[in-house]
Amino acid sequence: MHKQKIAFEFSVFDSLEELSSEDRSLLQTAIAARKNAYAPYSNFQVGAAVLMENGKVVIGNNQENACYPSGLCAERVAIFQAGAIYPGMAVKAIAITATSKDYVVKEAVAPCGNCRQVISEYEQKQESPIPILLMGEVGKIIKCDAVADILPLAFGSSFLKE
Ligand code: THU
Repeated sequence: MHKQKIAFEFSVFDSLEELSSEDRSLLQTAIAARKNAYAPYSNFQVGAAVLMENGKVVIGNNQENACYPSGLCAERVAIFQAGAIYPGMAVKAIAITATSKDYVVKEAVAPCGNCRQVISEYEQKQESPIPILLMGEVGKIIKCDAVADILPLAFGSSFLKE
């Protein structure tokens, strides 16, 4: 038996101004997308923006449901829509941000496990890393270089064949 360790580095920015103009613009689009979230149950409004290889940006926001598990997170709304509009096209980056009607979200919001799995599928398919930008309403911004970093030992299609 031996132990193995997985470590990863990520970048932390103090403000939007510190980001590259491409990252800042993507995050600003995600901020704008928060407004149209349908989140009457949690009051937690998440916006996501997916930058495609052709420069187009596809947005999403969380869509809740009275039958709670039937709702969908902003990230999956956005990336599934990107797959539907631009099938087979690589994703260059994703930005995620959240606000609440009840309090100020001060920490960078990280995608849930289901969303990491879904984004991981696209990352594995395109065989290139998808950087993820994370932000709350205020506070520091985190940039992860790849979904694989935040979903170590990920499941994928390779497990479904010999
Ligand atoms: N939510 C997202 O849209 N993305 C995340 O990364 C975390 C959670 C949504 C799901 C639900 O509508 C609300 O936030 C509270 O969990």
